[in-house]
Amino acid sequence: MLGISVVLFLLIYGALLVLSLFGYLTRPSPSRVVTDPDDAPSLGVPKHIQKMWGQYAPWHPAGHYTPPPEGCNITQVNILQRHGARFPNDDDGAAYHASIKRLTAARKFADPRLEFLQDYKYDLGTETLLPYGAMQSFEAGAQAFRRYAHLVGPAHIPFVRASGKRRVIDSARNWTVGFAAASRQRYNPSVDLILSEERNNTLNNDCPNAGDGSEQMDEWLGVFAPAVAERLNKAAPGADLGAEDVFNLLAMCPFETLARQRASPFCALFNEDDFRAFEYHGDLEKYYKTGYGEPHGLGRVQGVGYVNELLARLTGTPVRDHTQHNGSLPFPLHGTLYADFTHENEMVAVFAAMGLFNVSVPPDTHEMDPAREWVASRMVPFSARMVVERVVCAAGGESVRVFVNDKLQPLEFCGEGDGVCALESFVESQAYARSEQSREDFERCYN
Ligand SMILES: *[C@@H]1O[C@H](CO)[C@@H](O)[C@H](O)[C@H]1NC(C)=O
Ligand SMILES: *[C@@H]1O[C@H](CO)[C@@H](O)[C@H](O)[C@H]1NC(C)=O
Ligand SMILES: *[C@@H]1O[C@H](CO)[C@@H](O)[C@H](O)[C@H]1NC(C)=O
Ligand SMILES: *[C@@H]1O[C@H](CO)[C@@H](O)[C@H](O)[C@H]1NC(C)=O
Ligand SMILES: *[C@@H]1O[C@H](CO)[C@@H](O)[C@H](O)[C@H]1NC(C)=O
Repeated sequence: MLGISVVLFLLIYGALLVLSLFGYLTRPSPSRVVTDPDDAPSLGVPKHIQKMWGQYAPWHPAGHYTPPPEGCNITQVNILQRHGARFPNDDDGAAYHASIKRLTAARKFADPRLEFLQDYKYDLGTETLLPYGAMQSFEAGAQAFRRYAHLVGPAHIPFVRASGKRRVIDSARNWTVGFAAASRQRYNPSVDLILSEERNNTLNNDCPNAGDGSEQMDEWLGVFAPAVAERLNKAAPGADLGAEDVFNLLAMCPFETLARQRASPFCALFNEDDFRAFEYHGDLEKYYKTGYGEPHGLGRVQGVGYVNELLARLTGTPVRDHTQHNGSLPFPLHGTLYADFTHENEMVAVFAAMGLFNVSVPPDTHEMDPAREWVASRMVPFSARMVVERVVCAAGGESVRVFVNDKLQPLEFCGEGDGVCALESFVESQAYARSEQSREDFERCYN
């Protein structure tokens, strides 16, 4: 079994490599290549449903990447990237399994969609990167080379860091393999630095006094889950499922589908409205955990260290930070391409520290706004990436562009709010990261 999956993995990996080389060789302008999202394996679940998987959605572009206008050159690229698809974490996996056992223990199944449970075996691992997640990271590395090949040279190999969790390191390494493959092995970046999660770390959110969004998620669960539980309990009399079980069974759809790379039978138990509610649950978590809504105002401080490192790179000056940055670790400043691998909660903290996705109305825990702009599946799907480009134009001056999953961010806090921000104004706009306030907030994480 293991042998077969290794062979399959290598086959898929090889196919991706060939595809990415083919794409590179047959297209005249590498910086204009856009990876077609529909090239990704279909997984047997409609794409519009996959996009409702919140932070467990597989990567898909949220916009259309465009190179800078004529007369402008990109001079530096900073990529902050989430690990690829993973197994459920330890506690979550145990909870999912327990809910499945409860459902399986029903007196009978009154719905044919439940019959698979008669010989169902829970076989998800925990915590680690999936082959699908490795592919996503590989493809992201290949895309980074294709898009930014002109910034790469023998003296300009990407500088790569990863937070210390296995899946993050594996994502970073698979990214470097994809990058090297797309360059036809001319450039072989390696993971230069692994930042321990036991210490303050700019690629990992950590703030013991901060909330985790569970209160807000529970409120929403109380709104949407009871009716779904009732429906399932009718189909499985005696199972006696509660609201938490509904969430756990819904989560099996993305996790099992991504692990098996074909539709999990759990997906069929739910309708679009259920998945919409599931997605909103993730939006609430991200907003109230490390986002703008953390009740003690300790969400965005968890992204400050990375933002200060970003400012240092963009301006070519040493890091000034009093939060997570560890000044005794190597921090080169004259690179052209930096790639940092992290977790979604850290990315959300960075967004909030920077002022991205600054929605004027906080998401309501009792009512979902279908037109909301704070949407986890577009911000932090598996393999999510924020790319900050430094651009120089003949017309004068350096500026900054920020893409989140290929969508140009308007940067309404800077200039015209049209997505182009003078470098100097960008640095100025990052007042929170540079402030005494963020230093104090960081202390409040611990005291
Ligand atoms: C890519 O990720 C997989 C996990 O799916 C891991 O086993 C493998 O070692 C990674 N590749 C590299 C080059 O680290
Ligand atoms: C991180 O820094 C804070 C504030 O200086 C300190 O209290 C805390 O112990 C550090 N955390 C770790 C894990 O070292
Ligand atoms: C900085 O990183 C080094 C190397 O991992 C470690 O020994 C040191 O304790 C870290 N410093 C702080 C303040 O965490
Ligand atoms: C978010 O927007 C509000 C105004 O709409 C502004 O007062 C606030 O400073 C912004 N927050 C950040 C972090 O940019
Ligand atoms: C952009 O790069 C090209 C090719 O290296 C160069 O000729 C041109 O002067 C550069 N433009 C700017 C504005 O730096």
